[in-house]
Amino acid sequence: MFSHETTRGKEEKVARIVIAGNWKMHKTIGESVVFASNLRETLADQADLPEIIVAPPFTALHAVSAVISGSSIALAAQNIHEADRGAFTGEISGLMAKEAGCSHVIIGHSERRTLFGETNERINRKLLTALAAGLNPIFCVGETLPEREENRIEEVIEKQLKEGLNNLDDSVISRILVAYEPVWAIGTGKTASPAQAQEVHDFIRSWTAGKYGKDAAEETVILYGGSVTPQNISALMSQPDINGALVGGASLQVESFVEIVKYKSNQGV
Ligand code: PGA
Repeated sequence: MFSHETTRGKEEKVARIVIAGNWKMHKTIGESVVFASNLRETLADQADLPEIIVAPPFTALHAVSAVISGSSIALAAQNIHEADRGAFTGEISGLMAKEAGCSHVIIGHSERRTLFGETNERINRKLLTALAAGLNPIFCVGETLPEREENRIEEVIEKQLKEGLNNLDDSVISRILVAYEPVWAIGTGKTASPAQAQEVHDFIRSWTAGKYGKDAAEETVILYGGSVTPQNISALMSQPDINGALVGGASLQVESFVEIVKYKSNQGV
């Protein structure tokens, strides 16, 4: 579908591997603490794990931060407001998320784009604010089903990348994780096939190389999100440009999240 040449062969991936769990509006503080303790305990003696990030709802951030402190599990907020403070009833700033223990924040999730009207321009301001607050953004992009059917994937993703990353200092690209989440695959049980996902990941990496240089592009973590499960993670991860996953539904139980995190040891089982 894409006219550019594939930038990567089958060689070793350069970027680090990251598995992130987006809990959305699930789990009370108590449930979040139990989950985080179980996760920490289950992974304590495991070697060769990817980087792990969990994104509980705002109310549970501080409590989960205490539970995972000193472990290799990192904490993400699911959203922030673009201002540092002010009269924005119901909103949370990047500085507040940072103080609650977050190292990361999800920006531009398709549910924020479609249900809460977030534009590329607003997402760009949130990315700038997150970076200034010391948070590493997980920047989500993805096309809808009609956009895919109209063959507009490349155009849509490029616009999201270009406008979302507008005015960013080139050096900060190393702090941004990009998550490709086709909207039609989120929460629907319809995963993009590994080949479909790879095609868009390759496009994202090529675009990044054009803007930030080949080395920066090779190191950019590009996550796939949309109905990732313990059953399909290995096939997705076998693709050269998939550096991990942003997991919704299957991140809500410790067992399935751990199976995804441990995809390497489950290969061929
Ligand atoms: P899903 O959600 O895994 O439930 O499809 C992914 C996401 O929205 O990040």
